[in-house]
Amino acid sequence: MRTRITELLGIEHPIIQGGMHYVGFAELAAAVSNAGGLGIITGLTQRTPEALAAEIARCRELTDRPFGVNLTFLPMVTAPDYPGYVRAILEGGVPIVETAGRNPQAVLPVLKGAGVKVVHKCTSVRHALKAQSIGCDAVSVDGFECGGHPGEDDIPNMVLLPRAAEELSIPFVASGGQVDGRSLVASLALGADGINMGTRFIATREAPVHQRVKDAIVAASELDTRLVMRPLRNTERVMANAAVDQMLATERERGAELAFEDIVEQVAGVYPRIMIDGEMDAGAWSCGMVTGLIHDIPTCQELIDRIMAEAEEIIRGRLAGMLGAQRARGLAQRA
Ligand SMILES: Cc1cc2nc3c(=O)[nH]c(=O)nc-3n(C[C@H](O)[C@H](O)[C@H](O)COP(=O)(O)O)c2cc1C
Repeated sequence: MRTRITELLGIEHPIIQGGMHYVGFAELAAAVSNAGGLGIITGLTQRTPEALAAEIARCRELTDRPFGVNLTFLPMVTAPDYPGYVRAILEGGVPIVETAGRNPQAVLPVLKGAGVKVVHKCTSVRHALKAQSIGCDAVSVDGFECGGHPGEDDIPNMVLLPRAAEELSIPFVASGGQVDGRSLVASLALGADGINMGTRFIATREAPVHQRVKDAIVAASELDTRLVMRPLRNTERVMANAAVDQMLATERERGAELAFEDIVEQVAGVYPRIMIDGEMDAGAWSCGMVTGLIHDIPTCQELIDRIMAEAEEIIRGRLAGMLGAQRARGLAQRA
């Protein structure tokens, strides 16, 4: 399949694996890229720019296809060494960067100057337009369904994607709630040029996370995510668990007085405990509503091949068949 995003990024299929903290290591990024999508290493999971440089080199050993690095800008007590991470990306010859969290203007000139393609992930049409106006090459539009930070507007992709299509001239991919051939075709129909998936890629063989995390995703239904940190205007969609129940109870109790320190125990430093050690109740971890549609743990190749085959069958079979039936009826009526 050829879309503006496959052309821009030099990939075979219009499927991107979004950056994921403590999931987006070289193994997963390379597996997605080898399967014809775009794999992405999560920059800040690597503690230092040197560690990121080593992870990029490791990914290069595992694939000769294009892959990217995610740079997330989130409110943090001590800001990471962003110039150092950017240097590691440029010196590692990474052709694509996914930015997220806030306006990437500060890093854009140096990335663009080096010929890096920048895909900015955001949750609203106004932020997508801002990204377009400052020179991003594409955007990833994250709807309310998404795992992670859906923003504060709560617009699901059924409305957000066609709104983005109405306003944007640069290519964009649909992010949040994307899981199979049906979502790919639906997103293309709504105006997107491809899809970005997070949660679906965690439940793959190559995702280097504890088996309990994958099993939890397969076991969960679409009702099993919660929104936390809404009172802090830093909303995150996470998998429901005991720590999240505790967090929501604290949020209810503290009301408008809630401060980050009240919930720090459930969020600070919990990712390695969950993703690597499989301590499933250690804290809050991002997870999308698509859990309800994830029933297996395929390889990335199997998953991407299946999505593309299903998309083709829907377009050529189901949808074309509907038009075929209409045409046949029209001919019969005219006869
Ligand atoms: C466990 C997990 C960790 C994530 N970490 C990040 C991150 O560090 N930076 C980022 O930009 N997005 C992050 N995301 C968001 C994903 O890149 C992607 O936008 C989102 O998962 C799409 O929604 P979906 O889960 O419905 O596919 C994370 C998502 C998950 C599920």
